Amino acid sequence: MASTLRLCTLQIVQLSKNVCKPNCRYMFLSAVRPGTIVPFKLSDIGEGIRDVIIKEWYVKLGDRVSQFDNICEVQSDKASATITSRYDGVIRAVHYKVDDVALVGNPLVDIEVEEEITNVDESVKKSVRKERNEETDSQEGHDIKVEINSNKVLTTPAVRRLAMENNINLKDVPATGKSGRVLKEDILVYMQDLSHSSSIERPSIRTNEKTVLGENMPVKKYAKAMWKSMTQSLSIPHFVYSDECNVSKLVKYRDEVKDTLKEQGISLSLMPFFIKAASRALERVPELNAWLDEDAQNIRIVKSHNISIAMDTPEGLIVPNIKNVQTLSIVAIAKELNRLQALGKIASIPLADLSEGTFSLSNIGVIGGTYTKPVILSPQIVIGALGKIQKLPRFDELEKVYPANVIAVSWAADHRVVDGVTMAKYSSIWKYYVENPMHLLLGA
Ligand code: COA
Repeated sequence: MASTLRLCTLQIVQLSKNVCKPNCRYMFLSAVRPGTIVPFKLSDIGEGIRDVIIKEWYVKLGDRVSQFDNICEVQSDKASATITSRYDGVIRAVHYKVDDVALVGNPLVDIEVEEEITNVDESVKKSVRKERNEETDSQEGHDIKVEINSNKVLTTPAVRRLAMENNINLKDVPATGKSGRVLKEDILVYMQDLSHSSSIERPSIRTNEKTVLGENMPVKKYAKAMWKSMTQSLSIPHFVYSDECNVSKLVKYRDEVKDTLKEQGISLSLMPFFIKAASRALERVPELNAWLDEDAQNIRIVKSHNISIAMDTPEGLIVPNIKNVQTLSIVAIAKELNRLQALGKIASIPLADLSEGTFSLSNIGVIGGTYTKPVILSPQIVIGALGKIQKLPRFDELEKVYPANVIAVSWAADHRVVDGVTMAKYSSIWKYYVENPMHLLLGA
């Protein structure tokens, strides 16, 4: 054991010599012997956070961990963070269960360390003492030599190396060690902050202003179903494919006939055409009109095209379906859509209209937007989302620019059972029908 320790000490002394410049001083920090069980404490994660909730453990008793391996996921009211190990070793105690509250400064786990390590708390105490003496003294057998460069930020070579490997300027890292030393934890917290702040714009916190709360808003009637179905869909790997379609002919055709239908009490939007095109394309790619049985790993292809329509209602999002679209005319589809919209407004859509949908469409373009990533309604395997029709310059056959009506469509497919080529093929057929409404009407 003693020889191992000496070897370790020697290696570090040599490393220090290599990196140390002439104006640097040395000091000695104490070390923890291999086999020692050290408490791995929850360090200060900033923002004044005093306690956190344990959300998930990545380790259990007896697990072997290396430095930077994930230990657990914690959540405070301000942030969530992944806590990573400072040591190589074996987990000898886990101090909390999931959902327990852990206090900053208290041990999360105990680790039996495998290799000699610098004990940061001890080292800080020692460094202060040694600094006072301003001597390089190696009387204690397993002390480790560490550089202090008066021109540099105070820290250990290991931390300096960690910063260098991650392109971090030590001067940017808020130091929490004694006498302004940057600890390994400081680097890790800084790296986590960097990754958070690159994706999230952090609001500035003005502590002297009180938060003004509004009224409580209970989840609406239909939104409860959305909660359930969308949570379910989280486990589905979504493959998304988008394209744009020139629907100028379709827009023109609808404009020509809609007033006549209005006189008959039928409101004809573009949606019935999109629905019919979905059904026509399904005739060519029937495997997409299906339900997935995850447990049996089986796909049930359905002959009826029961097209589900995402519908915005005063009670939230609801997805009724129009049954057997393959047998319906555009006008019949429009009538069904009108009926469902009227019932949706008064939150009275019967269960029969909500069940047994086989394929979904969502027209968010009524509100705005171009592209969206729609979320699959399990057990279905495909959903299409439409953006807002835009007037955009396009070329005609004579290469003359003209104002075209362009709509973007985004398809999300369950990538466990639908491959990209099948989705792209389906999308192209659908596009053909919405770009050539005469073929849709003729049933060609
Ligand atoms: N781009 C431009 N205009 C559009 C459009 C689009 N993508 N979609 C519809 N419009 C037009 C319609 O043609 C209609 O115009 P008109 O007044 O000249 O006839 C108008 O917008 C209103 O249409 P609307 O009555 O809503 O009917 P619709 O048949 O087009 O759409 C629903 C029906 C149910 C799809 C739609 O009302 C709805 O609820 N959409 C929201 C879906 C949703 O919330 N999706 C999100 C899921 S996360």
